[in-house]
Amino acid sequence: MNTPHIPVLIDEVKDIFCELESGYFVDCTLGYAGHSFEILKSHENIKLIACDRDIEAINFSKNRLLQFNDRVSFFHTTFSNVIDKCENLPIRSILADIGVSSLQLDKKERGFGFDSDKLDMRMDQNSSFSAYDVINRYQKNELERVLRDYGELREYKKIAKKICDEREKEPIDNAKRLADIVGRKSQFRGRTISPATLVFQAVRIEVNSELDELKLLLESIKNSKINNCILAIISFHSLEDRIVKQTFKTWAKSCICSPDVFRCDCGNNNAIGQIVTKKAIEPSLEEIKQNPRSRSSKLRAFYIERERIYEIR
Ligand SMILES: C[S@@+](CC[C@H](N)C(=O)[O-])C[C@H]1O[C@@H](n2cnc3c(N)ncnc32)[C@H](O)[C@@H]1O
Repeated sequence: MNTPHIPVLIDEVKDIFCELESGYFVDCTLGYAGHSFEILKSHENIKLIACDRDIEAINFSKNRLLQFNDRVSFFHTTFSNVIDKCENLPIRSILADIGVSSLQLDKKERGFGFDSDKLDMRMDQNSSFSAYDVINRYQKNELERVLRDYGELREYKKIAKKICDEREKEPIDNAKRLADIVGRKSQFRGRTISPATLVFQAVRIEVNSELDELKLLLESIKNSKINNCILAIISFHSLEDRIVKQTFKTWAKSCICSPDVFRCDCGNNNAIGQIVTKKAIEPSLEEIKQNPRSRSSKLRAFYIERERIYEIR
């Protein structure tokens, strides 16, 4: 079946989950089921909880996974909610391949790309908040925050001002015009990423609360009863990867006393498992050549095992 999205790091993901024998696999970001299809195919006793906030992705994948029908439950929801819905099941594996799918980027009506006639960027089409609202209704200081924090743009003030000046003339209601206003080409020597790329990234993160979603997902896993479970997260930019890396480090700490205390009084049993990937796994040059969109992906994994007491790291 032709799919509108090529799954990234597929062999590495299969490898991380290779020992699965039973229980449930939660795919927090089902997308076009590239990863889930492979897991279901190679682990015949595994059942799938398939979550995505994008109904177009869910509908496509229902068809794609038809042959595994009796082993799959679909949830059209955000992944910050999915763990609550299934934490009493024997979950042995969780995957979150966060970010946008190729279909979302390529389909003009979705308003994620520079050449779209719309300014949308909602992953969940039922949401009432879109890129149009961020660009046309945010105060200048709110726009600056989005561009600075999520786009990491040095010239965030200048770009926010440009957007505010332009929208005074007439509302900015399509992606093409926004890309023209902020600049499609990098104006700085040695810089390869264009302002438009970073502005679009920042607005997308804001529209879909992407970083908060990731933090909430991690929190819901930590606060759940899930045990003996491998968690793998694929992220596509440094803001997300930093959150994953820091969280896994904290989760692996047995002693959480402040470094100043003379003697440990925290019980020294606070770890909820251990880090599986000491360094993030990145795509091979071959994969990047075949699928350039994989180039910024990073995979980190953590094994949740709550009863064991781990050594202080
Ligand atoms: C990179 S794609 C996943 C591709 C999938 N692994 C595959 O092989 O086809 C990311 C998907 O995650 C979904 N998504 C992103 N953030 C989400 C969230 N907070 N809750 C639920 N789904 C989310 C997007 O709608 C998109 O379909």
